[in-house]
Amino acid sequence: MYNLITPHNSRVTKFQHQGYDIIKNLLDPKEANMLHQFYMDYNDWDIYLFPDEFPAPDKNPEYPLAIVKKEDKNYAEKKLYAQKTHLHNFSYHYSRTDYLHPILVTHFQSDEFIKELEIATGKTDLKLGVNFVNCLESGDWNGPHHDGIQGRVAFIYHLTKDWRPQDGGLFFRTEINNWNNILSVTMPTFNQYVVMDVEGYDTGAPHFVSHIAPEVTNKRISYIGWYQ
Ligand SMILES: [Fe+2]
Repeated sequence: MYNLITPHNSRVTKFQHQGYDIIKNLLDPKEANMLHQFYMDYNDWDIYLFPDEFPAPDKNPEYPLAIVKKEDKNYAEKKLYAQKTHLHNFSYHYSRTDYLHPILVTHFQSDEFIKELEIATGKTDLKLGVNFVNCLESGDWNGPHHDGIQGRVAFIYHLTKDWRPQDGGLFFRTEINNWNNILSVTMPTFNQYVVMDVEGYDTGAPHFVSHIAPEVTNKRISYIGWYQ
């Protein structure tokens, strides 16, 4: 049991009515701690940055993901350009890795987990699509966007410890036809699983992660992905 479904099915109601749910203490604390420690010590992250060219492509879904290296002589300039883009268009800057610790594979790809998720979300035939671990540090952000192109159900499994609201990195959900109207704000919380209905390419669940505040040394680490 993964605690995705409550005895009275109230989660089904909540997800299906609000398109969103939060499950606390998803995994055994021992396993969650191992994952936390592993990714806090991990040092093979790739930096992802969007956009990395001028002029910026206008939310083109075919635009390739841009990986930059800090050693790139234009790195600072590219980051600044993405930062300026944030004021009027979609942009992001964060680190990620495709390396999955075996504990993640064991749970998130198991038949039992997916079965529970299908009951909890009311979706059928869910298949794990793109998934990776990401890490946001001071100065990183992920601007307003939809996830619809990636799948029907998005998830964020938080491995961040000791986070505070003033550290930034808050997860905002906004109204579909009004990106300025905030539906909810969530702080990353250790061993917490956030699941969101993102069905519909241009309609599903607009959201963003606010900038991590200057001088924050903690890392905002989460395993994220989509079920198609
Ligand atoms: Fe997203």
